[in-house]
Amino acid sequence: MDTTASGRAPVLQLKDIRKHFGGITAIENFALEIYPGEIVALVGDNGAGKSTLVKIVSGVHAPSSGTITMEGREVTMASATMARSHGIEVVYQDLALADQQTVYMNLFLGREPVNRFGLLDRRRMIDETDKLVKELDVRIPSVRATIRNLSGGQRQGVAIARATHWASKLILLDEPTAALGVSETAKVEETVRSLKQRNIGVLIISHSLDQVFRLADRICVLRRGRQIGIRNAAETDKNEIIAMITGLQH
Ligand SMILES: Nc1ncnc2c1ncn2[C@@H]1O[C@H](COP(=O)(O)OP(=O)(O)OP(=O)(O)O)[C@@H](O)[C@H]1O
Ligand SMILES: [Mg+2]
Repeated sequence: MDTTASGRAPVLQLKDIRKHFGGITAIENFALEIYPGEIVALVGDNGAGKSTLVKIVSGVHAPSSGTITMEGREVTMASATMARSHGIEVVYQDLALADQQTVYMNLFLGREPVNRFGLLDRRRMIDETDKLVKELDVRIPSVRATIRNLSGGQRQGVAIARATHWASKLILLDEPTAALGVSETAKVEETVRSLKQRNIGVLIISHSLDQVFRLADRICVLRRGRQIGIRNAAETDKNEIIAMITGLQH
């Protein structure tokens, strides 16, 4: 088993991952390890295969070949539910919230607490959601608001709150701040950094290289489905990463 100098096993290890959609190769020969408390950024131009990779780890797409290992054990992510049971939470680029439901129901979707009468414990869901959105500074009118009445940025805030609340091992963030304002983005970045203290591994997709360099320990570059390389953030710079993304020298 691969370990770091500190002797810890990676929380996630991907080996030789490939994904084809019919004749299209979305991912070829991808390998990556993410350690507990580590933030890895996944970067690349539109269509490079970033979201596909997230969906492979989160059980939405099965890889065409390759292996996924968590804490040293090979796993099959046959569904999103299975990924959750492994402690993986995701903020998808297209968010995947239930539009007709309230904020608090979305927070607990699929894991609603029940009271001793077997009924939904709405009080508890409302209170916990309220506490969470305050902690994360998600500015919504109320946790009883329906998702479809929220702005794009507010929805993104709810999706991030849900993921950070439930993740125990790994969190995958696909463009989490794309719809957010300056102060909301700063708050999300602070939240992502705080996941380190909980020893949670983070894979974050971002088109903002400034954000990538503010957050990431390592940076992994994809170009048209090919893994171009992985760099320690402290040992590279924007010019090198841009050259890797585009394939052009700068
Ligand atoms: N369900 C699918 N069926 C067929 N092709 C797909 C599917 N999902 C993705 N693709 C293709 O796989 C390639 C990678 O797409 P992906 O969404 O992973 O890119 P991305 O790096 O996330 O891009 P962006 O930065 O625009 O979000 C693209 O060519 C896309 O058209
Ligand atoms: Mg994408």
